[in-house]
Amino acid sequence: MTPPNTPTVAPATGRLGVLTVGLGAVASTLIAGVELVKRGVSSPVGSLTQMGTIRLGKRTENRNPLIKDFVPLASLEDIVWGAWDPFPDDAYVAATRAGVLEGGKHIEAVSEALREVRPMAAAFDREYVKRIDADNTMHTINKRSMLNAIRDDINRFREEKQVERVVMIWCASTEIFIEPGPAHQSLDAFEAAIDANDPTIAPSMLYAYAAILEGVPFANGAPNLTVDIPALRELAIEKRIPISGKDFKTGQTLIKTVIGPMLRARMLGLSGWYSTNILGNRDGEVLDDPDNFKTKEESKLGVLEHILDPETFPELYGDVYHKVRINYYPPRGDNKEGWDNIDLFGWLGYPMQLKVDFLCRDSILAAPLALDLVLFSDLAQRAGLYGIQEWLSFYYKAPMVAPGLYAEHDLFIQQTKLKNTLRWMMGEEQVTHLGREYYDEG
Ligand SMILES: NC(=O)c1ccc[n+]([C@@H]2O[C@H](COP(=O)([O-])OP(=O)(O)OC[C@H]3O[C@@H](n4cnc5c(N)ncnc54)[C@H](O)[C@@H]3O)[C@@H](O)[C@H]2O)c1
Repeated sequence: MTPPNTPTVAPATGRLGVLTVGLGAVASTLIAGVELVKRGVSSPVGSLTQMGTIRLGKRTENRNPLIKDFVPLASLEDIVWGAWDPFPDDAYVAATRAGVLEGGKHIEAVSEALREVRPMAAAFDREYVKRIDADNTMHTINKRSMLNAIRDDINRFREEKQVERVVMIWCASTEIFIEPGPAHQSLDAFEAAIDANDPTIAPSMLYAYAAILEGVPFANGAPNLTVDIPALRELAIEKRIPISGKDFKTGQTLIKTVIGPMLRARMLGLSGWYSTNILGNRDGEVLDDPDNFKTKEESKLGVLEHILDPETFPELYGDVYHKVRINYYPPRGDNKEGWDNIDLFGWLGYPMQLKVDFLCRDSILAAPLALDLVLFSDLAQRAGLYGIQEWLSFYYKAPMVAPGLYAEHDLFIQQTKLKNTLRWMMGEEQVTHLGREYYDEG
């Protein structure tokens, strides 16, 4: 099938406003990081938009530009920050509290810029994040009032900061588990549920709804349902707004979506995969609550099932014991340790084991993903793309896909999809890896 016509991508003129919902570890590490990169103090390691290249044409052509030179992304210089958080801490205090970055080396170097990012009062309801008790809120849990206040905030931010375009990214706590229900099925039902203060309308949905209504692309870094409901997916199409989610794919799941496809590619069997983590940041504390952990667990568990496809390969993957644990352990702070014990089997069913011990840094892994999502969401809007941006599934544990489709979880399929989307956007040939042309004899 020939791909649809190449879109026209509008240039990235003027300033880009980035609104983070939540100004905790990830958001403050993102903001400090971008400010450090702008000043030439550090490198944007982990960011595909800043460091990645893309192959164009045949391998013999040697065309491998940087992605940021190939597609018209907003420049880091043009980013202006805004945020909401129930804690009143500015980004300087938030970064210091989060304990991710070294104070002397990194936070002080950009202290002025960080001090300028002061959180707006949050649309916050403790019912959805019980472990957080803070007062920089809208002081109402009336859903209609919260929605209107978020819309006002977006417009005030736009005017005060004189930004041409705005992107919103959810970097706030994981909310309690909510199943898709009647209130989410249509815009009419959703609207009525807001007026009825229906508990299945979480604050994150109000942020996403406000973003779409105000013409702002929305990306969801947490596993909450948020924008992944029919009412908002359909509205995003109607209003021509790009949306994407859910849940940054940073540590253990990133590894899972590399090792899982490897097992399947080689037709190696799996009998069990036990994953456990210790984590001591505020996110870990929120996830210590079973209702909030349930949201995360669902997002983490789905991955293997889709990659291994037990229905097609019952002998290899029909009886896999898969367990995921997150344990709140304060001494480690943001420096998460994730263990994986993988029980696999090979030729004639002989068992083997694979152990992974990833001593990672949660927000160091998440910040570059948040940056890429912001820049690509803005690019998508300028390219006239709207609705679910499946090409951004590279960044997510539980990628949003069109109804009826299964999500691609394999990291390298996701990467190919992302790069082919960029090629298509710029009128370049798709890279299919067929490669017959190198061997044609005629
Ligand atoms: N760091 C990672 O590797 C990673 C990976 C995947 C997903 N995530 C998700 O990203 C999110 C942010 O992680 P973090 O480590 O920065 O957490 P964090 O606890 O440091 O920051 C979250 C912030 O959100 C605020 N918040 C809560 N509800 C809010 C609301 N309704 N409006 C505005 N602000 C609100 C909290 O007060 C807190 O300051 C979490 O949901 C986490 O699960 C992180």
